[in-house]
Amino acid sequence: MAKPLNIGMIGYGFMGRAHTNAYKRVSDFFSLEYRPVLKAACARDKEKVTAFAENWGYESVETDWRKLLERSDIDAVDICVPNNLHKEMAIAAAEAGKMILCEKPLAMNVAEGEEMCAAVEKAGVPNIVWYNYRRVPAVTLAKRLIDEGKLGRIFHYRANFLQDWTISADVPQGGAALWRLDVDAAGSGVTGDLLAHCIDTAIWLNGGIQDVNAMTETFVKERVHALTGKVQKVGIDDACAFLCHFQNGSLGLFESTRYARGHKALYTLEINGENASIAWDLHDLHRLSYFDHSDEGRLRGWRSIHVTDHGGDHPYMDKWWVPGLQIGYEHSFVHQVADFLEGVAKGTPVGPTFRDALETQKVCDAVLQSAHSRQWVDVN
Ligand SMILES: NC(=O)c1ccc[n+]([C@@H]2O[C@H](COP(=O)([O-])OP(=O)(O)OC[C@H]3O[C@@H](n4cnc5c(N)ncnc54)[C@H](O)[C@@H]3O)[C@@H](O)[C@H]2O)c1
Repeated sequence: MAKPLNIGMIGYGFMGRAHTNAYKRVSDFFSLEYRPVLKAACARDKEKVTAFAENWGYESVETDWRKLLERSDIDAVDICVPNNLHKEMAIAAAEAGKMILCEKPLAMNVAEGEEMCAAVEKAGVPNIVWYNYRRVPAVTLAKRLIDEGKLGRIFHYRANFLQDWTISADVPQGGAALWRLDVDAAGSGVTGDLLAHCIDTAIWLNGGIQDVNAMTETFVKERVHALTGKVQKVGIDDACAFLCHFQNGSLGLFESTRYARGHKALYTLEINGENASIAWDLHDLHRLSYFDHSDEGRLRGWRSIHVTDHGGDHPYMDKWWVPGLQIGYEHSFVHQVADFLEGVAKGTPVGPTFRDALETQKVCDAVLQSAHSRQWVDVN
């Protein structure tokens, strides 16, 4: 019989739902020593958080996150709130001795991230950040192929994350629905929101980033603020592109925008090595494209691997359906919970830890600094 591990969830929005779904599903599909229990949901609005708790099956509600942290029946705290709240909640959770699963980006900036790392390391509590794309099976397979040396020396890493939802100048900034457009709540625009995902995956697959040269643009300079009702300057980056050198000598090219008409969440990556290339696309997330130069010449070409096999050792897939049946976005969160719980049982850290996510934060800060100064900026 699995031991209960009581979850205190802060936030009931997009990620609050995605994570809760993962806690509910994980023990049905993975055999684990710990079983998540939906102990308490927390948000400021009693009526809304109660409705969320009833709908998703939480046993209780709190309207003050500090009260949640005081409860002795909470083992792990999940932080699913806007970025400007991560630091305060995570440090207090660490001081209360709770395990922490924190949404990305880790913090508003490196200085905050350093404080958060110090707090979890001092408290010795298990911690993880929700860079969930690492655990899409096709991306995990890419990691295995790279680590086995199948690509050989890597020359190029390319990633995009394209959206189109803020093109209208009538979209306000700030408030519950649009905090991502308010620099005081989000810290940055596409850099922390979208490129942070690309950077985390890149560091995981291809190693550390040495230096960056970036440009950002804010296409709509002023928007009405939902909380003040006044037209205010927009402080976030609407678009960002940067070049970088990886520590392994390869070159990186990254682009993100919320102004690419027609694209909703087009996260793509491509890696070119001396022996082979890999490409992946979130819109077709169960496939990995692979080109192997050692194939017989007349058959050489890009193959599209349907990452659903059991015998083919496709990561995580033996836990789900039969070969050929694909899984989706929400499963990346289930996989992250499964790996986290396994780490808790073994007493070993599971990445991306706060310390791992700090590396991504350092790149994000360097990107913004470079865009501002129009200079190359070293990451460390
Ligand atoms: N891993 C991913 O792919 C991914 C995707 C989306 C968002 N995120 C991250 O998740 C976090 C939340 O984003 P979201 O899209 O779920 O936002 P959201 O706007 O959908 O939900 C935010 C939640 O925070 C709650 N909240 C705000 N202030 C609070 C407070 N003081 N106390 C308690 N609750 C409070 C709100 O009530 C709401 O339930 C952000 O850090 C974001 O960057 C990650």
